[in-house]
Amino acid sequence: MILTNYQSSLTHPVFQHVSEIIEKDGREAYVVGGFVRDLLLNRSSKDIDLVVVGSGIQLAEELAARLGKECKLAVYKNFGTASLHFRDWEIELVGARKESYQRHSRKPIVEDGTLQEDQNRRDFTINALALDLRKASYGELIDPFGGLNDLAQKIIRTPLEPGITFSDDPLRMIRAIRFATQLGFRIEENTFAAIKEHAERLSIISQERISDELHKIMMSPRPSVGWKLFEESALLPQFFPEVQALKGVDFVDGRGHKDNFYHTLEVLDRLAVNSDDLWLRWSALLHDIAKPPTKKYYPNQGWTFHGHEFLGAKMVPRIFKRLRLPLNEKMKFVQKMVLLHLRPIILSEDFVTDSAVRRLLFDAGDDIDSLMTLAEADITSKNESKKQRYLNNFKLVRKKLKEIEEKDAVRNFQPPVSGELIMETFQIQPSREVGQIKDAIKEAILEGEIRNDFDEAYAYMLILGDKLGLKPVKLK
Ligand code: CTP
Repeated sequence: MILTNYQSSLTHPVFQHVSEIIEKDGREAYVVGGFVRDLLLNRSSKDIDLVVVGSGIQLAEELAARLGKECKLAVYKNFGTASLHFRDWEIELVGARKESYQRHSRKPIVEDGTLQEDQNRRDFTINALALDLRKASYGELIDPFGGLNDLAQKIIRTPLEPGITFSDDPLRMIRAIRFATQLGFRIEENTFAAIKEHAERLSIISQERISDELHKIMMSPRPSVGWKLFEESALLPQFFPEVQALKGVDFVDGRGHKDNFYHTLEVLDRLAVNSDDLWLRWSALLHDIAKPPTKKYYPNQGWTFHGHEFLGAKMVPRIFKRLRLPLNEKMKFVQKMVLLHLRPIILSEDFVTDSAVRRLLFDAGDDIDSLMTLAEADITSKNESKKQRYLNNFKLVRKKLKEIEEKDAVRNFQPPVSGELIMETFQIQPSREVGQIKDAIKEAILEGEIRNDFDEAYAYMLILGDKLGLKPVKLK
């Protein structure tokens, strides 16, 4: 038997208070949307959406008065909504509405409505479930579209004809894919066909709203699911032509290269197993982004993508700007990952020398562990023995990184001898020689000729000065 009363799950004081408030004058209020969905899926949620038939703001004010000092109320008169912050809970209150949207705008014509009308205008059946807060029917599930069954069958389906639901808010096409990815659900055929049909309508949606959904896809257990659905539904070229361009294989003389779209997604999923750093996951998506524009075929070498890491790093700011992702140190981190992603692999192809490891540590700095995680995820060869060889070499690189880090401290390299000291010692002005000496000291440290320490660097500086014909005037 399907349990359709969830009274015992609605124990939070907010629900009890609302129930008592509406009891006095026979109003109707319901818990709706994501909270109900997550409750039935046993996922915890601190966001409660309440729908009241009548004024959401009035109920919010009454509720705030009962909850007392611990509660912060914000009223949005223009939208007819209010939100309450109570302990670590966010409660949104809104009057039931029937909305209809104008075709080319997100601005709805809003009118008061019934619960059923409010449920009609929601995105998916699993998000259109409501729990009654009236005393007589407290905790009863109101499920006009079979949302409970869709939850059980793991199906994403719109409550109305999908064309209507998606024209009301085209972001819902992205949300369908987000929920499918996040929850491991399947998108019902008609719903998916409507996404294909209406894909172009995404153009009226702000990029910020799209990117919020993309982050949620990226943080899912298998982000590839979402990107594949984007591709299959024709949404991908609407907002991410660079990722779309990764798809496909070219052939010359019967020789093809690997499909970079599927390779990228494999890397992303492999990385997601080992890291829940959002920006490292974005780095995985973008690591080969410049493969299409750098692709070349040479009869004696086959397919090459020379310099794709450099061009890829250059493409990152433009992509971040367009997707409205932060143009700060997060972006710089992604650029660095894209730029350096081949280095650990190249290094482990050869005999792993100390100086190569030191250089990698110097260039990656504190992001070395992230870089190693990305590079390891990038090993997707189908050839098992090759894959094993790489992974073993990676173990060796990690071991060496640890040893060298302890010995040489080059992770966040600070030159042990400063430019000022060089000028003071030889009594010279800022000049090319100062730069030459500094660089040569750095090189000697990275090559392992001297240690990363003041005395050795100082002694080496005197030798270098001598070679340049400089006499020390002031010695330490
Ligand atoms: N909703 C909708 N159409 C949208 C966005 C939201 O119909 N484009 C409705 C859905 O009923 C949804 C509810 O508003 O459940 C709350 O939306 P939101 O807070 O954005 O998402 P949740 O469903 O709560 O999911 P999550 O917390 O994972 O974002």
